[in-house]
Amino acid sequence: MLHQDKGSDVAVIGAGVIGLSIAWRLAQRGLSVTVFDRGRAGEGASHAAAGMLAACAEIEPSEERLLNLNRASQALWPDFAAEVEAASGETVDLRQEGTLNIALTADEAARLKQHLVLQEKLQLPVSWLSATDVRRREPALAPGLVGGIVSPEDHQVDNRKLARALKIAATAAGVRLVEETAVTALAVGNGRVTGIETAAGLYSAGTVVLAAGAWSRGLDGLPAEARPPVRPVKGQLIALGMDPAAPLLNHVVWAPGVYMVPRRDGRLILGATVEEKGFDQAITAGGLLSLLHAGWRALPAIEELPVIETWVGHRPGSRDDAPVLGPGPVEGLVYATGHHRNGILLTPITAKVISDLIVEGLLDPVAEPFRLSRFTSAPVAA
Ligand code: FAD
Ligand code: GLY
Repeated sequence: MLHQDKGSDVAVIGAGVIGLSIAWRLAQRGLSVTVFDRGRAGEGASHAAAGMLAACAEIEPSEERLLNLNRASQALWPDFAAEVEAASGETVDLRQEGTLNIALTADEAARLKQHLVLQEKLQLPVSWLSATDVRRREPALAPGLVGGIVSPEDHQVDNRKLARALKIAATAAGVRLVEETAVTALAVGNGRVTGIETAAGLYSAGTVVLAAGAWSRGLDGLPAEARPPVRPVKGQLIALGMDPAAPLLNHVVWAPGVYMVPRRDGRLILGATVEEKGFDQAITAGGLLSLLHAGWRALPAIEELPVIETWVGHRPGSRDDAPVLGPGPVEGLVYATGHHRNGILLTPITAKVISDLIVEGLLDPVAEPFRLSRFTSAPVAA
């Protein structure tokens, strides 16, 4: 079993929401934890995301196992948000208006009703709304819309505020955060982790948590069978500026080709492209055009709004689009990566199952399907 004795160090590679939340939970339980980031904390995918907690709206065929994990994390969110806010003194803007997924043509409505069949088969709390009922909830949506699905349990959080709050909560709990310091290699001896190497030297640790997001595969020192099959999946986004006193939307809205996420400060986030282009950073005319056109079809009044920001992020996508959680073939190395489209949603459950694993030596059954061993035939250190 992994079972980390109090007093021996845990090193976490990556200070995104995943690494920070795990470190925070471990420090709360008395462990000595150091988090390393090659840049500034919270500036990877955790900064780029849209912050939707959309276990029901984003469900896709063949993701039933992931749904259990997503729903378990969704249920933790209200208490988790309150706890992070209390520990940090910062708000994370958890908004609980729910999500609408709308159709603008009869064809789109037929496709959406197929999606509803899947959601109902999985007994998700969703229902069909007439066009009138959709527009009663969101009057600025296109007058010709045909109908939509309401997901009353799919909420949103401001992921940038979340990362900032987690950083404060973690350091207040005693976590040492080492920024601008890349981990250059994992140190392994006799099949077990001994620490990590950084530009500043070797750091000894009995347990290392790999939470380096889309970069998790590239770490030197990882034996081939211990490399998580995680790749960057590029996404472009745009933020438009609404009047916060008279926002165009209050719900998160999905329409064909776009999702729109209204923030309390008036930002309206339009996302996101899904591109297999490695770590490409380019903001392209085609990417912005597709988001703006799809957004304008659904919410015509956006044409008056100023563009506040455009940006790119890289989702840590695994081979089956689900996270990699728990132990692997190198004793003492724990995986918390590959969260792909759902890393903000999955933050509370990941922090819980990984800290439980390190402190108690047991992987929660909800995380069992997500071990690295599902991709390999290598023996797994328990
Ligand atoms: P990151 O936030 O990327 O953090 C990894 C950190 O590791 C980085 O800070 C990086 O600098 C550091 N690092 C990397 N290599 C090293 C090294 N060698 N040494 C030291 N540090 C290193 N999820 C949702 O739930 N809802 C959404 O609405 C949503 N929308 C998204 C939209 C887009 C466009 C994108 C890109 C992602 C979205 N996601 C969403 C997914 C979510 O953002 C990610 O799954 C989540 O942020 C992953 O968190 P992380 O901490 O693993 O990775
Ligand atoms: N979950 C939204 C995205 O990945 O774009």
